[in-house]
Amino acid sequence: MLKTKDILDEKNKLLRTISEEVTFPLSDKDKKTIDLMVEYLTNSQIDELAGKYNLRPGMGMAAIQLGIKKRYITIVHEVEEGVFDTYIVINPKIVSSSEEKIYVEDGEGCLSVNREVIGIVPRSARVTVEGFDIDGKKIRIRAREELAIVFQHEIDHLNGILFTDHIDSKNPFKYQNIYRSI
Ligand code: NI
Repeated sequence: MLKTKDILDEKNKLLRTISEEVTFPLSDKDKKTIDLMVEYLTNSQIDELAGKYNLRPGMGMAAIQLGIKKRYITIVHEVEEGVFDTYIVINPKIVSSSEEKIYVEDGEGCLSVNREVIGIVPRSARVTVEGFDIDGKKIRIRAREELAIVFQHEIDHLNGILFTDHIDSKNPFKYQNIYRSI
């Protein structure tokens, strides 16, 4: 089982590196890592387990957050109370994004950023992501609203980008009345 301390903190320079494309077949180690990521994200969103195992709630994780420089991400999205959709995407790419931008009203969070960050992160309201499943089969996902934001956030990690990079530190709320909040 992954522990919260296994997740790299923003001060770790590895988070600033560009992760490398993955080749198939996936190694058993990567498959195991993916299982652990999904398990952490799922448990972290179940209050009782999050408390028991001291997990920080999170919807998404990129391999680089565990120090693994490979382009894969996992997302666990709670669609209704206790019901989760799981996305595992290898070599994910955003192939189209909406013009319309949105932001998380309460601010974005990240398992690697252990501090309060204020400010607006503009994101596309809808994105189409292409990539591969764990068997190397091509997949395409259309995501909107919160899920679209998580995909953008996780794919940023693969390019060494943190959500805090998108916030204008001189004017962290400048997009407040321009884009739609969710
Ligand atoms: Ni993150």
